[in-house]
Parts: sequence; C-alpha cells; structure tokens
Amino acid sequence: MKITEALQSEHFVFHNIFDYLEQTVPNLQNLVEIKCLANLLESIHESHSRVEDSLIIEPLTHCLDNIAQAENFEAEHKEIDESLAGVAEATTVEEARHLLLRTVHWCRKHFDREERIIFPLAEEWLKDKNLTDLGEAWQRQRKTS
Ligand SMILES: [Fe+2]
Ligand SMILES: [Fe+2]
Repeated sequence: MKITEALQSEHFVFHNIFDYLEQTVPNLQNLVEIKCLANLLESIHESHSRVEDSLIIEPLTHCLDNIAQAENFEAEHKEIDESLAGVAEATTVEEARHLLLRTVHWCRKHFDREERIIFPLAEEWLKDKNLTDLGEAWQRQRKTS
C-alpha cells in the first residue's frame, strides 16, 4: 500500500469522527463528557500527526517551502493545539463546546489542505517505490504506536 493511500484511509475515519462530534457536541450538557471527547480526539490526532509528519511531511519539506505552505500547516497545528488546550481548561459547558467545535473546524481545514496539497504533491514528487516503502514504514509504526 502506498503511504498516501494509508494516510487517506486514516483521514476517512477522522471525517466520520468529525461528523459525529459536530452532531453530538452541541447537545452535550456535561463538562466532563466534552473534555473526555476532546482527550480522545487529541490522542488519536497526535498519533496520526506524528506518523504523517515523519513519513510524508519531512520528505516533502523542500517542496512545501517552495510553495509557501509550511507556514499554513504550522498555523493550523497551533489553532488545533490551542483549542484543545482551551477545552481542557474550560470551566463552563458552553466554553468547552465552543472550543471543541472550533478544534473540529480547524482539523477539517487542515485535513482538507493535506488531501488537496500534500497527498498529490507526494504522488508527484516521490517515486512509486518510495511511496510503497513509506507505506510499509507506516505499517511498522502503526503496529508499535
Ligand atoms: Fe498536520
Ligand atoms: Fe493527516
């Protein structure tokens, strides 16, 4: 499997999770429940990002600098991290709800940019053999992480 296919599959699962959160969070009344969902999202997003950064972003760093996209990715990561940190510190249900939905909004933007820019760039710049080797590295990392 190519690394782009592997990561796109992970994205499909995230899109379902984002749909679920957008439907569910507005009706939640319990602060702890919202914080638990935020912790879950943070945990799975952190492991996805770690694998993605090491296997696809790093090999493409020079291309991203050339098309001036690196800063956008950094800025989106910052928005996601700050929103999640805000949920952890929120003292009211309204604040936690707002910040968790804000996190989902930035995640969607970020995932969309990866699908529109990063995955096609990888397909264009990395040879088929490299994409498959990286896909195997993804399998190994996913088994241990
Ligand atoms: Fe990312
Ligand atoms: Fe991703």
